[in-house]
Amino acid sequence: MKVAIIGGTGLIGSKVVARLRGDGHQAVPASPDTGVNTLTGEGLAQVLTGAAVVIDVSNSPSFEDAAVLKFFRTSTGNLLAAEAEAGVGHHVALSIVGCDRVPESGYLRAKVAQEKLIRNSPIPCSIVRATQFFEFLQRIADEATDGNKVRIPPVLFQPIAAADVADAVCRIAVGAPLNGIVEVAGPQQFRFDEFVRLGLSARHDPREVVADPRARYFGAELGERALVPDENARLGEIHFEDWLGQSPAPAVPAARA
Ligand SMILES: NC(=O)c1ccc[n+]([C@@H]2O[C@H](COP(=O)([O-])OP(=O)(O)OC[C@H]3O[C@@H](n4cnc5c(N)ncnc54)[C@H](OP(=O)(O)O)[C@@H]3O)[C@@H](O)[C@H]2O)c1
Repeated sequence: MKVAIIGGTGLIGSKVVARLRGDGHQAVPASPDTGVNTLTGEGLAQVLTGAAVVIDVSNSPSFEDAAVLKFFRTSTGNLLAAEAEAGVGHHVALSIVGCDRVPESGYLRAKVAQEKLIRNSPIPCSIVRATQFFEFLQRIADEATDGNKVRIPPVLFQPIAAADVADAVCRIAVGAPLNGIVEVAGPQQFRFDEFVRLGLSARHDPREVVADPRARYFGAELGERALVPDENARLGEIHFEDWLGQSPAPAVPAARA
C-alpha cells in the first residue's frame, strides 16, 4: 500500500519510513527536502496521488507561540484539503498526551488546533498522542537551564523512545481508522526531575538538576498528571536505561565543555 509520510525525513518520520518499507509498503517521505511543502502546497498533489494513507509527523521549525500555531493550522489545512482531492482513506497524525490540559503552552495549543482540524474533516483519521520522546531530553534540559542549574517541576512523567513511537504509528496506520485518539507512552513512570537527572548524569553533563515546583515547562506550569496518559495507553517496550546505553551522547556545547 502507498503511504505518504509528511515529515518523513524527521526523527519519527525517518523511522516510520524504514519500518513501513521493511513491512513491504510503498512508503514515500515528504518534506521540503524531498520537494513537498505543506505550507505552500508545493508537491502535495503529486505525492498524495495513489496514497491510501497519509501519516503526518511534521513539526514546526519554530516553537514560538504564533509561528507554531500558524504552522500546524496552515499545514494541516492544506494537507487535509489535498487528501480530500486525492481520495486518501486514512489520515494519521502524531500529537501529544495532555495537549488539552496545558492551555498556557503555545506549542500545545497549536497541537490542539491541529487535532481539531483533523476531527472536523471528513477524512477517516487516527490521532496518536505520544508522551515526550527520550530524544527530547537535551532540548528540555537546555530550555530549563539557569546558570549551572536545570530547574524541572517534579511532576509525573512517562517518556517514550522514538523507535517505540514509530512502531505504534505504523501499526495504527496500516489498520482501520480509529476516528479517535489513542495514547502511547513509555513503560516506566518517573518524576520529571528524576528523568532529566538520570539522563544528564549518564552523559556526564555537569549541570545540577533541581526539583522546583514553580519551574515552567516551555513557559507553562504543569499539574501533577498533566503529561501522563490514562490507564488505556499502549506502552512501548524500550526502557530508559537501555536507551541511554545504546544512544550516542549528544555533543556538549562549547560553553559547557
Ligand atoms: N518531541 C516530543 O517529545 C514529542 C512528543 C509527542 C509528539 N510529538 C510530535 O511529533 C511530531 C514529530 O516530531 P519530530 O521530533 O519527529 O520532528 P522533527 O525531527 O523536527 O522533523 C520534522 C519534520 O517536519 C518536516 N517539515 C518541516 N516543515 C515542513 C513543511 N513546511 N512541509 C512538510 N514537512 C515539513 C521536516 O522536514 P525538513 O527536514 O525537510 O525540514 C522534518 O521532516 C511533531 O508533530 C511533534 O509535535 C513530539
